[in-house]
Amino acid sequence: MTKQETIESLRARYRSRDADLLIADLLGAPVSHVVAHGERRIDASRIHEAMRRRLAGEPLQYIRGKTEFFGRDFFVDDRVLIPRPETELLVETAIETIERGARVADIGTGSGCIAVTLAEERPDLRVVATDASVAALAVARRNGATALVASDVLSAFVRDFDWIVSNPPYIPAADLEQLATEVRDHEPLAALTPGPRGTEAIEKILDEAGRARVILEIGFGQEQAVRELAAARHFAVDEVRNDLAGVPRVIVLSRHGWK
Ligand SMILES: C[S@@+](CC[C@H](N)C(=O)[O-])C[C@H]1O[C@@H](n2cnc3c(N)ncnc32)[C@H](O)[C@@H]1O
Repeated sequence: MTKQETIESLRARYRSRDADLLIADLLGAPVSHVVAHGERRIDASRIHEAMRRRLAGEPLQYIRGKTEFFGRDFFVDDRVLIPRPETELLVETAIETIERGARVADIGTGSGCIAVTLAEERPDLRVVATDASVAALAVARRNGATALVASDVLSAFVRDFDWIVSNPPYIPAADLEQLATEVRDHEPLAALTPGPRGTEAIEKILDEAGRARVILEIGFGQEQAVRELAAARHFAVDEVRNDLAGVPRVIVLSRHGWK
């Protein structure tokens, strides 16, 4: 039997924006409705269960089963990284930079947020979403990615792409313990770190890029290391874009002689 309680009593108990959002989700209504209709009686057990998970440290986005990216809702659960606002800069750069009709690989697609947004915003592009995690690809499919390939970087592909876009795992393994427990204990490890250097996935992408030009999201303080890795592999840095905090976040690379 469901336990009915008023919205007002639930709000008084939890006093948090998270609870308001969860109640709004349950009702399929905006938060303004939750605030304005305190007298309404709802199934409280669902809210208690969701708040129990939240108070135990689970990210709100996994509990809600959604997050917003580039103005669209994406389904998320603990099989994929929760899309971050910084990654919108990568998508913006790709939308502005990639030429019409290009063949593009999104390496490490996770939720599919990059591949799906790019395909929506630039329907002229042929976008393939790839990930080493088959579980992540199932989420990307649910979010509308249509061309999906399980692959360790580009090992499953024979033909070259024109462009590679990627938000790879880039946190050095030793830095994991400094992350918020909400991230460290809940988001997939393979989405966070590629190994001790933090640049292992980037190195592999550049090693396998062939003639493709590359747009990468990079970590805090990683610009110099990525410049050196790129130079050693005969890539020129075409552009570096800073995020809203002024941190170099997106780097555009092309191979010498292939431009
Ligand atoms: C930082 S997450 C990015 C997810 C999504 N693109 C985003 O921006 O929110 C990195 C993704 O790369 C995938 N990944 C890690 N190592 C990989 C590899 N060697 N080859 C392909 N994908 C890999 C992980 O499974 C994860 O989904």
